[in-house]
Amino acid sequence: MTESANHSIQTVGVMGAGTMGHGIAQILIRSGYTVFLHDLSQQFLDAGAARITKGLKRDVEKGRLTAEECEKALSRLKTTTRVADLGGADFIVEAVTENLEVKAGAFRAIEPHCGPGVIFASNTSSISITRLAATTQRPERFVGLHFFNPVPVMKLVEVVPGLATSPETVEAAERLAASAGKTPVRVNDSPGFVANRLLIPMINEAVYCLMESVAEAKGIDEVMKLGMNHPMGPLELADLIGLDVCLDIMKVLYDSFRDSKYRPCPLLEKMVSAGRLGRKTGRGFYEYPQGKA
Ligand SMILES: NC(=O)c1ccc[n+]([C@@H]2O[C@H](COP(=O)([O-])OP(=O)(O)OC[C@H]3O[C@@H](n4cnc5c(N)ncnc54)[C@H](O)[C@@H]3O)[C@@H](O)[C@H]2O)c1
Repeated sequence: MTESANHSIQTVGVMGAGTMGHGIAQILIRSGYTVFLHDLSQQFLDAGAARITKGLKRDVEKGRLTAEECEKALSRLKTTTRVADLGGADFIVEAVTENLEVKAGAFRAIEPHCGPGVIFASNTSSISITRLAATTQRPERFVGLHFFNPVPVMKLVEVVPGLATSPETVEAAERLAASAGKTPVRVNDSPGFVANRLLIPMINEAVYCLMESVAEAKGIDEVMKLGMNHPMGPLELADLIGLDVCLDIMKVLYDSFRDSKYRPCPLLEKMVSAGRLGRKTGRGFYEYPQGKA
């Protein structure tokens, strides 16, 4: 494919080359878009680009992509530490650190380089889209585009209009997601959107079950896998996501709704205080002897 499937958008700027940013860049170059991938240092960009190359080469090995398509896709990836290089993009996807100030700073840095028609999207998991949009000069062309990890595998994208987002912006974001092989689902700007509002309290409740000795960790996970057909149990999943991330999202729900049903489980707080964050630290509800997974 030499041309992207979404004709009004040819070039996308992706800010942040971490877990999500590299995955978003990968599916976009695979779908025909030219991507300018930006991060703060060349080291982060090289790591992101290496993960993209590995991901696409795996697609070739599995017969999902030809070697030629893989090479062409990789030739559409440009990495840069200069935010000005994203100025020619038609659409910007922000996937930087989950912090309002960091994200607002990233948009402040890019905005002077972008034409007024360029759409800004944020991949935030928990920050209000309306609030983020208000930090820019283009709230009507600002939208939430919440991808899931790992991006190349997960079909869902929550498309989140803020209060001022125009219908054209939402439609353009939905077209972009669909043209990259995802299924966009429109969700209003509410804490946790839908996915994390359902998932993280379920994980939190599983930690309560463990704390109250309703069952052991393995038993709790088996119940949800065998009884509910979940591919992973909630505690295994918490270890994969990171217990600190789960706790942060629970706190956002609790602080936003001020409803005691979102109270973070004390055991979850204790595990985070102890540094037992899950796979990334080698220990969470389970142990991962080789350390980082
Ligand atoms: N990890 C997940 O499972 C997941 C899932 C859905 C959404 N998200 C959201 O995606 C976003 C990114 O998360 P992640 O897990 O990829 O984080 P990450 O830490 O893996 O990557 C963030 C990257 O952003 C870079 N960065 C920070 N400030 C920057 C700036 N001003 N300009 C350019 N780059 C900058 C960092 O150097 C880092 O490489 C967050 O908003 C997060 O909530 C994460």
